[in-house]
Amino acid sequence: MTPWQGHAFIALIGPSRAQRSPTPSEILACIEALRQRGVTQAVTPALSAFEAEPFFQAGFTQHEALHLLARYIDTEPPKPTHRLRRGRPWDRPRVLELDSKAFEQFWQFDSFSLKEARRATPAHRFTVAVADGDVTGYAVTGRAGGRGYLQRLAVDPNLHGQGIGSSLVHDCLRWLHRKGVGMALVNTQERNTRALELYERLGFVRQREGLLVLRWDEPA
Ligand SMILES: CC(C)(COP(=O)(O)OP(=O)(O)OC[C@H]1O[C@@H](n2cnc3c(N)ncnc32)[C@H](O)[C@@H]1OP(=O)(O)O)[C@@H](O)C(=O)NCCC(=O)NCCS
Repeated sequence: MTPWQGHAFIALIGPSRAQRSPTPSEILACIEALRQRGVTQAVTPALSAFEAEPFFQAGFTQHEALHLLARYIDTEPPKPTHRLRRGRPWDRPRVLELDSKAFEQFWQFDSFSLKEARRATPAHRFTVAVADGDVTGYAVTGRAGGRGYLQRLAVDPNLHGQGIGSSLVHDCLRWLHRKGVGMALVNTQERNTRALELYERLGFVRQREGLLVLRWDEPA
């Protein structure tokens, strides 16, 4: 369990990567322990239908449905058309500012969640797009067990539609290709048509089964 986006009263609770799925009674016990510590709301990471089931049984409800998309990386992906470079620690304040402009409040990153996204996999790539010395977009890509994960992608809303998002995705795919990774995965909210169209245009294919983000709210 960790705080959600830095809010001490919202917990992020999900199955551990290393262990079996929790049972509904284990989840209820966890919620009870959190309540005692003043937590009033809990959210899960993106879960498969199978992983979500015990959370539903423990009283969680659906917060958001996500599409899961996959892309084979069997040939070298196109070169980015925009200027990109590796993200540096001093880029983080600007990246977070841009992230909060690009995403609605629930999904916005703080410095903790940015660090978590970068630490979610054993290897990661943090790339920023730059123009006139300013950061215009960024992406975090992870690599684990022979698969690639596009963890985060955001472009300054004033600069949408100029190909910056596509360049960042191509950079992520090229990095994975260089590392011998044959498949990239990404998830996005079902209602995020702009991101969905971008991914599909760049060769990602929507998977039949999506993912769910669930939530629990302390009863009033
Ligand atoms: C999704 C997102 C990253 C796309 O970034 P972007 O820089 O606008 O992406 P691109 O410009 O590469 O592509 C977007 C569209 O602009 C068009 N476009 C690309 N280059 C263009 C150019 N030079 N001039 C005009 N239009 C252009 C593309 O054809 C594309 O059209 P589409 O709607 O058919 O896909 C951006 O909208 C964003 O930050 N959204 C909020 C955060 C978010 O949802 N992130 C993804 C979460 S999974």
